Amino acid sequence: MKILKLLLFFFVIQMQAQQGGMWIPSLLQGMNEKEMKSLGMKMSVKDIYDVNQSSLKDAVPHFNGGCTSEVISPKGLILTNHHCGFGAIQKHSTLEHDYLTNGFWAYKMEDELPNENLVVTFIVKIEDVTSKVLEGTANLTSEAEKQKKIQDNISVLSASLPKESWQENKIRTFYEGNQYMLFVTETFKDVRLVGAPPSSIGKFGSDTDNWVWPRHNGDFSLFRIYADKNNRPATYSKDNIPYTPKHFLPISLDGVKDDDFTMVFGYPGKTNEYLPSVAIAQIANELNPAKIEIRDQALKVADGFMRKDNAIKIQYASKYASIANYWKKWIGETQGLKKSDAVAIKKNQEIAFQEKVVKAGKQAEYGNLMTDFDKNYAEIAPYALARDYFSEVVLRNTELLSGGYTLYQLEQIYYTKGEQAFTDRKNNLLNGLAGYYKDFNPNVDQKVFEQLIQLYATKVPAAFLPSQLVNINASDLATAIYGQSKLVDYNSLKTLLTGDSKTVLANLNSDKGYILVKNISEKYLKDVAPKYEEINLKISALQRTYMKAQLELNNDGRLFPDANSTLRVTYGKVKGYAPKDGTIYTSKTYLDGIMEKYIPGDYEFDVPAKLIDLYKTKNYGPYAENGKMPVCFIGTNHTTGGNSGSPALDAKGNLIGLNFDRVWEGTMSDIYYDPSICRNIMVDVRYILFIMDKYAGANNLINELKLVHPKK
Ligand code: ARG
Ligand code: GLU
Repeated sequence: MKILKLLLFFFVIQMQAQQGGMWIPSLLQGMNEKEMKSLGMKMSVKDIYDVNQSSLKDAVPHFNGGCTSEVISPKGLILTNHHCGFGAIQKHSTLEHDYLTNGFWAYKMEDELPNENLVVTFIVKIEDVTSKVLEGTANLTSEAEKQKKIQDNISVLSASLPKESWQENKIRTFYEGNQYMLFVTETFKDVRLVGAPPSSIGKFGSDTDNWVWPRHNGDFSLFRIYADKNNRPATYSKDNIPYTPKHFLPISLDGVKDDDFTMVFGYPGKTNEYLPSVAIAQIANELNPAKIEIRDQALKVADGFMRKDNAIKIQYASKYASIANYWKKWIGETQGLKKSDAVAIKKNQEIAFQEKVVKAGKQAEYGNLMTDFDKNYAEIAPYALARDYFSEVVLRNTELLSGGYTLYQLEQIYYTKGEQAFTDRKNNLLNGLAGYYKDFNPNVDQKVFEQLIQLYATKVPAAFLPSQLVNINASDLATAIYGQSKLVDYNSLKTLLTGDSKTVLANLNSDKGYILVKNISEKYLKDVAPKYEEINLKISALQRTYMKAQLELNNDGRLFPDANSTLRVTYGKVKGYAPKDGTIYTSKTYLDGIMEKYIPGDYEFDVPAKLIDLYKTKNYGPYAENGKMPVCFIGTNHTTGGNSGSPALDAKGNLIGLNFDRVWEGTMSDIYYDPSICRNIMVDVRYILFIMDKYAGANNLINELKLVHPKK
């Protein structure tokens, strides 16, 4: 019996170790430390997060709000993904200086390139402020009033809680409104581009390989943080100096092997791990397929142009990559949800949950949750679908419409805030739109429009269509609009926006493109958005109660909060997986695999001549492993979008890799995490060093790093 118990105990530990989770760094001690040590971690949780002394968190800034980066030198050098730096690299690229194609390396600090609007944000400290945020809400019965009070409290607290003048207070909710945390942050605004490999390395395999294992891209780029004389945040100035970090990551040259402890530290954006089954079914059967179809068509059009015209390829590279990324993810996610039978699994969990509710005598509080979910999700379905069509077709994928929508908002500003606000916004828009039009091609957009407006007119529930879109001929409409609208070109748009508000509004309202955007938007804002918001507010309240119930009734007391773009720790081991019958994937790839995939001159699988030379001569320096050059590896760390660029750390907190993706069969992990097949993908840091050193000859950068041998 004892032995059985012991066995069971180890089994449970084993299971838990694999169950995923994105944990709050300031709470590791109670929740995770034991497990992390049992998995092989050799540091204390204070080495990861500490308010009084420097710790790993001081080396891991949020990169421009969407990705993660890490400081790797005492001079503020940071590492992130190539796809995270892509926008910046693209902005500096022209046909003559095509850094996307050829890469970019600053061999001296003077050559590092400033980037407007690129920031990195460090966390100074994290504190629980739940009771302060919820103060005065207990007696409010309406959900809207409650949320308003919470928002008011948050504004007051953010302004009044102590911080230094150059810092910021940010309050974020956890467990769907059951907990609130304060983050004191420092945002650096002078971040310069230092290095990027050519896309044929950084984006090798491009969209074909994206979200797929085995993988072979060197998805990295390098930036440097600059600060003022006092080492504090400052906007760009040539007098700024390289930032001196509180901590920077030593880099391990010893590599990884199966079952090694790994930890990924970063800013996962958004997960939905606690959705009811009815919501998952809606995503898998209705919403994802609609969004996939829209992007499928938009991408086919752009791809056709990009393959034929190099200027268009540069213009659309960044937009294309980001549209393609989630298009492909949704496909994988939908397949994964179906294959893993996530809906049925969640249904069973819901039955077990309801039994627990009964056992605990909590029917009054939690007994109706599941039927309420069913009712509200059924009610929101047509609105949710219409909302996705509006955001994908109008706001996201047809540029004339998304640009037109910003003008529609401008008109609204005139009515709500008056002349001055209108003029300010107009001037702002004119500045912003200059960059937008630099990468705009009316021929590409017209074709996209033709496809997507057809979808909109046929797939959006009829009650939500403006009359202008009933029974259209999409091709005629496209010809008329792109032939006559002033929105297809920056100069004509400027003319359209010249003059006082009366003139501008009259001009806008006689423009064919603008009129269409306005018709679609007004119908949406009147008949879809308010109802969607109303039902969604109810769903959020249910979700909060459901989360509270799970926290209360969960026996082992270990549930992680959904990702919310705050700093999290996830950990696991280096491990392969077996996604289907007869298929086993190992955990590591090598340069040999790049040569296997090599297709000379190909759009996605070309390999630079210099890399081929280095391969042939095995000129790998100290970065090789048994004569081979490692490239990527996978592990059981539970990551999501936003974890791009996150450091993968070894048991002692040395850098071993750079997170950049997940495997195809596991992309549903944002909704349902299956430990047997969900894996994150990292670039082996030795490949990064090899490219910097042997490929780019950037010894200036290698010399800044601290290279270590923790295993020797
Ligand atoms: N899938 C990774 C992520 O979600 C990499 C994206 C890079 N983009 C691309 N289209 N290859 O960000
Ligand atoms: N590539 C993703 C990102 O940009 C990370 C991969 C993922 O979603 O897991 O954050």
